[in-house]
Parts: sequence; structure tokens; C-alpha cells
Amino acid sequence: MNQVYFIGAGPGDPQLLTLQGAAALQRSAVVYLQLPYDETFAEPLAGKQVLIPFDYDFAELVTLIEHQLNSAPVAFLIPGDLTFYSPFQGLINHFSDRAEVLAGVGVANAASARLKTTFDLPSVCNRALIVSPKTLGDKDDSPKLEELAAPGVSLLIYMNNLPLPQLVDKLRKGYGANVPIALLHRLGLPDEKIIEATLDSIVSACRGYDYFYLDEPEKKPALTFVVVGETLRAEVDSRWWDCRRKTSWQQRKGMIGPS
Ligand SMILES: C[S@@+](CC[C@H](N)C(=O)[O-])C[C@H]1O[C@@H](n2cnc3c(N)ncnc32)[C@H](O)[C@@H]1O
Repeated sequence: MNQVYFIGAGPGDPQLLTLQGAAALQRSAVVYLQLPYDETFAEPLAGKQVLIPFDYDFAELVTLIEHQLNSAPVAFLIPGDLTFYSPFQGLINHFSDRAEVLAGVGVANAASARLKTTFDLPSVCNRALIVSPKTLGDKDDSPKLEELAAPGVSLLIYMNNLPLPQLVDKLRKGYGANVPIALLHRLGLPDEKIIEATLDSIVSACRGYDYFYLDEPEKKPALTFVVVGETLRAEVDSRWWDCRRKTSWQQRKGMIGPS
């Protein structure tokens, strides 16, 4: 029985596709994707039928895939992977045993690597929150970004729909301090741009350019990810390594090496 693969395709750089994802893509005759994967994945897509999933309503899409599965496997390239903010759950549930989900490099993972920074750090940051102002909503009882932003939190912000000065105001209220912020625009793509600043300096660092495309009439996806928090610029206390070694690693059975 042919499968529908939901392949975590990473932020857009084909080098970040897993070996498992690459094998599933190779087996598939039809591939559903969004921009910019048609361009960046042009090589592995050669000779395959490429379709845009949002050209179809749900019932049409399901019928089409059922038909396509009669002759060969079908693939979806999922931006990042399924873990966060992915619209494919309904299809995965529908295809059930015929759906196979393949893990990929999420945007947050790629951002951490690009910034060479972990998003939690002992005694600096004890939690990382994944949020989108868009999905939080703007009702009176919706959770507020300024309540989620707080000292000790790394905020990983997807799909920002607030003008940058407004976003910064909310973050400043929450953190109560001038913490570091990074904007990662089109991560892993040829025109990638990374802006590292602080809440006080980020607006001027962007020089009037709207990295979120909020006024774009075409509603082009912005592909900008935001990371906020002290971990971005913190000094690492190297005593933590020795403390962990003594209290945890050396206690483990089978530890190899000198004490
Ligand atoms: C619908 S979410 C997809 C998230 C994805 N499922 C993941 O796990 O990383 C789309 C948002 O992810 C971020 N994003 C996706 N691709 C990106 C890229 N190449 N560079 C920077 N941000 C990106 C942007 O914030 C964008 O608004």
C-alpha cells in the first residue's frame, strides 16, 4: 500500500533534510509544497509532479491524494516539521495508517544552531516558550505576550503579526529590562539575514525595513523567526560543568574515565 509522507523539510535549505526524509521524497511521484521549497528543492524534485496543497479545499485534496496513491507514494514537504504550527494534522488523521510523519529540523533548531546558542542556560534561562502573537489571539481573555515574556524566559516567536515597535513594547513590559533579541529572516535560504540587537536597539537596527511583510498587499509569507531572552548574550559560568560532573555524571554507573 502506498503511503503519504509528511516530511519535515526544515527551514528551506535542502541540506537540512534528514536522510529518512530524502529517501521518502525520492520514492514519491507527487509532492505537495509551499514556497520557497519549489526553488530550493529543485534538484530532488526533478521529474516529480509538484502541487500547492492550498489550491484545493480539504475534500478535493483528499480525493486527489486517494487517486494519486493508486499509482505511487505521495509526499508533503512540511516547513520545519510537524511539531509546531503546522496545518497538516487533519490530513494526517484522515490518512491514518497510510500517513507517515518524518521528523525534520524545526526553525527553532536551525535558529539555535545559526546563533550558536542554546535557548536554556542554567541560572540565566530556565524555560523556553514557543509562541505566536497571531495564534494567541486578541480577545480580552487571550493570553498576553507581555505576560509570557519574563526574566528567565527565552521566547521563540513564530508568525509575528505585530509591527516591530509594538512587539518590542510588549516584550519590554514583560521582561522589565533591555534584553537581547534576534530576528532571523529567511533562515537557511540564499538571502538569509540575521539581526542581533537588544529591545532598545532592534527598531533602529532594522533601518525601517519590515522583516514581517505586514503591509505586503500579496500577503507573502515573511519567514522571519524571533528569539528573545538573556540566553542570547549570557556569559556561561564554567563552574556549572564541574558541578554537573560531580553531582550527576560521576554518580552514574559505568562512568568511564578518571574521577
Ligand atoms: C507555519 S510556521 C511553520 C513552523 C514550522 N512547522 C517549524 O516547526 O519550524 C511558519 C513560521 O515559521 C517561521 N519560519 C518558517 N521558515 C522560516 C525560515 N526559513 N526562516 C525564518 N523563519 C521561518 C516564521 O516565523 C514563519 O512565520
